[in-house]
Amino acid sequence: MLIICISLMLHLWQLGPDFKFQTIAQNLPPEEVSALKDMSNKLGRKQPFEFNASVCIDDQRFAIFVAGISCDCTYDNNRTCHVTKLFWNDDGLTGNVPEEVANLTHLEELNLSGNELYGAIPDFLGNMTSLYQVDLSNNQLSGPIPDSVGNLKAQAQNL
Ligand SMILES: *[C@@H]1O[C@H](CO)[C@@H](O)[C@H](O)[C@H]1NC(C)=O
Ligand SMILES: *[C@@H]1O[C@H](CO)[C@@H](O)[C@H](O)[C@H]1NC(C)=O
Ligand SMILES: *[C@@H]1O[C@H](CO)[C@@H](O)[C@H](O)[C@H]1NC(C)=O
Ligand SMILES: *[C@@H]1O[C@H](CO)[C@@H](O)[C@H](O)[C@H]1NC(C)=O
Ligand SMILES: *[C@@H]1O[C@H](CO)[C@@H](O)[C@H](O)[C@H]1NC(C)=O
Repeated sequence: MLIICISLMLHLWQLGPDFKFQTIAQNLPPEEVSALKDMSNKLGRKQPFEFNASVCIDDQRFAIFVAGISCDCTYDNNRTCHVTKLFWNDDGLTGNVPEEVANLTHLEELNLSGNELYGAIPDFLGNMTSLYQVDLSNNQLSGPIPDSVGNLKAQAQNL
């Protein structure tokens, strides 16, 4: 055991002072993974993607282009990620705006423009405290814009 420890230390030493531990887990919480999976299944994304807890960590560009999300992984001393942006615009989605969006509790920007979403604009969007930009343009959504959504601190609230 002692020998194993010493040899491990030697190896770390050989990697030099720039070595960074890669073992810090940066995970997306299970509620957010489930929400993304459920939303993706319900709406039928053009490019289906198998979401898991490590979707945010490897490469932000990968997350943006393939999974259609951006994350902030600085929570809990860089151990926890939260989805901050969802870009599923022009993604072949059809259905209602799913309630699981509300489980992405740190969502700041939501772009579902250019899909075949129908039904009412749900008022839970107005209760999402981090959300400031919503684009639901170019869908078949109907009905009034709920008061709660009207209160969004929206910069570009294209509904
Ligand atoms: C999403 O949020 C609702 C309401 O807070 C909760 O009942 C539900 O369990 C959550 N879903 C997931 C997948 O965590
Ligand atoms: C999570 O998904 C990514 C991308 O599809 C994949 O490379 C990785 O192996 C998966 N991780 C786990 C723990 O399943
Ligand atoms: C989190 O990661 C960033 C960027 O790598 C780093 O600058 C910061 O010091 C880290 N914070 C903690 C608490 O480890
Ligand atoms: C949402 O995506 C569309 C592309 O489909 C883009 O034209 C639009 O500017 C985006 N909305 C916002 C608010 O960034
Ligand atoms: C939004 O928040 C208001 C005020 O807290 C509450 O009455 C309402 O039920 C919430 N709506 C949804 C859809 O969560």
